[in-house]
Amino acid sequence: MKTCPTFAISELPHAMSMTHLLRFWLTLLRNPRQIGAIAPAGRSLGSAIAETLLAKGPPGVVIELGAGTGAITQALLAVREQLHYLVALEKSPELAHGLLKRFPELPVLALCASQLEELTLPQHKRLTLVSSLPFASLPADDCRRLCDSIKRISQRYREFQLIQYSYFGKTPFTSPSGNLVWTRGPTILCNLPPATVWTLEKRPSDQGFNSEQLTGPVRCPRSSAPQV
Ligand SMILES: C[S@@+](CC[C@H](N)C(=O)[O-])C[C@H]1O[C@@H](n2cnc3c(N)ncnc32)[C@H](O)[C@@H]1O
Repeated sequence: MKTCPTFAISELPHAMSMTHLLRFWLTLLRNPRQIGAIAPAGRSLGSAIAETLLAKGPPGVVIELGAGTGAITQALLAVREQLHYLVALEKSPELAHGLLKRFPELPVLALCASQLEELTLPQHKRLTLVSSLPFASLPADDCRRLCDSIKRISQRYREFQLIQYSYFGKTPFTSPSGNLVWTRGPTILCNLPPATVWTLEKRPSDQGFNSEQLTGPVRCPRSSAPQV
């Protein structure tokens, strides 16, 4: 378990300016259930997620869901050479716009994560979703739609994992399928609030099962201007 005594402002990612923080808090005020957190993820949480991502070898195609201010995105970009492909999805047009400005080299799509099956991605046997989606605060219908999409896309890959953090040690959401199981990772006490990293993956007997792979050329643009 990773521990650090107190939350410090230095926990915030280096490149995170006041503008990013203000954008986060303004979006939180407008739509608290969609944000579901009082602050962006801290640097230690970003590092723990990147470590979890690489723990079982190259993570293949990586889709970040609910990238927000880019706190986790920054940690993913630090290990980008080990990723086959990286794309970030963010529902809030304002936050997506901020991501585009902060990471001009990254494909950022202002999309609801429930549309993730519509992406045309590079062909690979392994898909990793890195999610900051606030399942604990989202309306039940949204959670159901998101879980259905996660279940369906997991079936299209031989190897699949979803990495998600949650607060207060709770399982992020009920596994959407009998063959997907949660494993608890480290708890980052100095995050605000303390957060636990979880991994949802196929039971060992099911890894390798399948099937229909996503095919075709990379159609996710290098970056897409969100409609603000
Ligand atoms: C807890 S915030 C954190 C984001 C990021 N980890 C950070 O530290 O800035 C959750 C993010 O998920 C986004 N979100 C919520 N529902 C979404 C959905 N259905 N599709 C895509 N993004 C969504 C919110 O707009 C918000 O930016």
